[in-house]
Amino acid sequence: MNTDGKTVLVTGSTDGVGRYVAAKLASAGAKVLIHGRDKARAKTLADEIKREGRGEAIFYSADLSSLAGARQLAEAVLADHRRLDVFISNAGIGSRTQGTERRTSADGHELRFAVNYLSGFLLAYLLLPLLKASAPSRIVNVASLGQHPLDFDDVMITKGYTGSRAYAQSKLAQIMFTIDLARELEGSGVTVNALHPATYMNTTMVREGGITPISTVEQGGEAILHLAEGDDVAGKSGLFFNGMQQAQAHPQAYDAAARKRLRALSLELTGLSAA
Ligand SMILES: NC(=O)c1ccc[n+]([C@@H]2O[C@H](COP(=O)([O-])OP(=O)(O)OC[C@H]3O[C@@H](n4cnc5c(N)ncnc54)[C@H](OP(=O)(O)O)[C@@H]3O)[C@@H](O)[C@H]2O)c1
Repeated sequence: MNTDGKTVLVTGSTDGVGRYVAAKLASAGAKVLIHGRDKARAKTLADEIKREGRGEAIFYSADLSSLAGARQLAEAVLADHRRLDVFISNAGIGSRTQGTERRTSADGHELRFAVNYLSGFLLAYLLLPLLKASAPSRIVNVASLGQHPLDFDDVMITKGYTGSRAYAQSKLAQIMFTIDLARELEGSGVTVNALHPATYMNTTMVREGGITPISTVEQGGEAILHLAEGDDVAGKSGLFFNGMQQAQAHPQAYDAAARKRLRALSLELTGLSAA
């Protein structure tokens, strides 16, 4: 896919690998909808893109730790744009963001599940009409190799909480959603794939987790760009990639009954089942 002139939403593009991806897409001529909460960092990126003189950057501020924030972002994008060619669901928090204690979102959901998974789920569904109208179009879910199965009796991890389990559960949920949504979108011209960009890139999330980075943002960014614009993945959907290579996710991702339960739960928690 030639992204010149295309409209691409990259959530979590004020920092880390999302920022790299947004800048690269803009330099290829795309209209990039950059997103995050930090207005100062967003301005630095928008200024950088403007100076380069290719593409365009439009900033959307939204806090994805509340479902209202995700709705507000989707509504703004739908109101402002007549097409959306690629949606990169990248915003996320790490296993230790805001500390090691269990935290909840504005809606009372376990925080990592809310920010890393539920908001992206809601955004994807709210943006689907525009993505379908812009087909062929793509959704890229930035997940991880860190995957922990969901315990459907305690999805909000009220017992035995650890940040790494919460993070890994949210990342597997993204992959289960990817497979599930791909089935639903068959024949629509909208594809959806998930990936582990790279291991321990040098980003805020990794540094605040006290981990020594072992990959660069460029490595992970190129893997995300591959799914967003690569010709070799055109028409491919419902897949998980480790970097550039197609890979197997945790077995729960291939359990249709588990995916069905997650879908029902997610529709209920986001209020979409009532719509
Ligand atoms: N780093 C790694 O090695 C690695 C490995 C595997 C997967 N990943 C995945 O890659 C993605 C990007 O990670 P990164 O390492 O680039 O992280 P990062 O540098 O910490 O950046 C996270 C981005 O998400 C945004 N964000 C965080 N919380 C938000 C909230 N409540 N509402 C709205 N935006 C929010 C941040 O924007 P503001 O601060 O402006 O809100 C920022 O732009 C994540 O999904 C992560 O799980 C990363």
